Amino acid sequence: MSKKVLVTGGTGYIGSHTIIDLIENGFTPISVDNGVNSMASILDQVSSITGITVEHYNIDLCDFAKTEQIFKEHEITGVIHFAALKAVGESVEQPLRYFKNNIDSLLTVLELSQKYQVKAFIFSSSCTVYGDVLSSPVTEETPMQEAASPYGRTKQIGEQIISDTLAHQNKLKAVLLRYFNPAGAHTSGLLGEAPSTPAANLVPVITETAIGKRESMSIFGTDYDTRDGSCIRDYIHVMDLAHAHTLALQHILSGKQDQPVDIYNLGIGQGATVLEVIKAFEETTQIKLNYQIAPRRPGDIMAIFANYDKAKEKLGWNPKYKIQDIMRTAWVWEQKRTKL
Ligand code: NAD
Ligand code: WQD
Repeated sequence: MSKKVLVTGGTGYIGSHTIIDLIENGFTPISVDNGVNSMASILDQVSSITGITVEHYNIDLCDFAKTEQIFKEHEITGVIHFAALKAVGESVEQPLRYFKNNIDSLLTVLELSQKYQVKAFIFSSSCTVYGDVLSSPVTEETPMQEAASPYGRTKQIGEQIISDTLAHQNKLKAVLLRYFNPAGAHTSGLLGEAPSTPAANLVPVITETAIGKRESMSIFGTDYDTRDGSCIRDYIHVMDLAHAHTLALQHILSGKQDQPVDIYNLGIGQGATVLEVIKAFEETTQIKLNYQIAPRRPGDIMAIFANYDKAKEKLGWNPKYKIQDIMRTAWVWEQKRTKL
């Protein structure tokens, strides 16, 4: 029988793409989301792509009793915990909301995973846990610095909670996945990022500018000590990222993980500057972007990109999409989304 996987934040950006990858790899995903930053109707797009109707619960994961109901109704083998608030700037303005939501929901899902003998727990962490690194590429061993925001701290604390909780047992195994900069959309053109709150990340800002939702966009700083003066990041296509979750799950379920908790970086190992990303968009789409140079954005670090050798060796993960694929799919999705 197909194994059931609870996907929290299942109607969100990365969660919805992962649901498709899970289906394509023989799992039965069950989605839960409270809709704070997504809409359940995105699962219609998932259904158009896969031909499968995914069971979905509209529940706030901070509500223990309601969440427990899902575990009572289904025999869950694995949990992929995406659900969280993720806007860095907002977390600075509303730290308590971020700590309450991101930590409470994690505690609920982790406790229930133990109680209902789930075997595998995958946690969405972030390269933000490394803080302002001195050099790149970063490995999983690179020491963490002070988190630059309350959001970042919820990820550092979340990792710590999972590690402490699972340290002295061997029933539930966890993987912490540190994503670098997820971007792009499903290659079908039917699914992509559709947040309820305004986008602040570079790639959606670019596509929203190109389609005219924004008059122009800003490049935050061209006076950094990089090859063209703008910041360097490691942009990873959302479908490559989604597949890493399936691989991590399979790795645990096939008994290949010895220790209770393991950690993997997920980036493509190549940094791109903001100006290079814009150039890739303009070349891929033949659209000229309206942008201006603006001052540095507070809290931004100059450069960070991943060493992902560990995910490659242990999980067999080989990201296949490049920055041009990210731009092409993001642009196709932006045009589709505008018509939905
Ligand atoms: P997203 O906002 O699209 O998805 C998160 C989903 O969680 C949303 O649909 C939201 O409605 C839901 N949610 C939030 N709090 C909830 C709660 N209490 N109960 C139920 N549902 C709740 O974000 P995403 O980009 O898909 O990110 C998924 C995960 O990956 C998050 O944990 C995020 O912090 C992490 N992450 C994202 C990025 C990125 O740049 N997108 C980078 C690194 C890590
Ligand atoms: C990328 C680059 C900006 C918008 C954030 C979180 C991080 C992780 C990924 C969750 C930077 C520049 C951006 C714009 C610009 N999320 N930029 N103009 O800041 O690397 O990471 O998302 O865990 O925790 O901090 O991503 O897409 O916001 O910015 O010039 O309008 O693009 O300065 O150099 P960031 P981003």
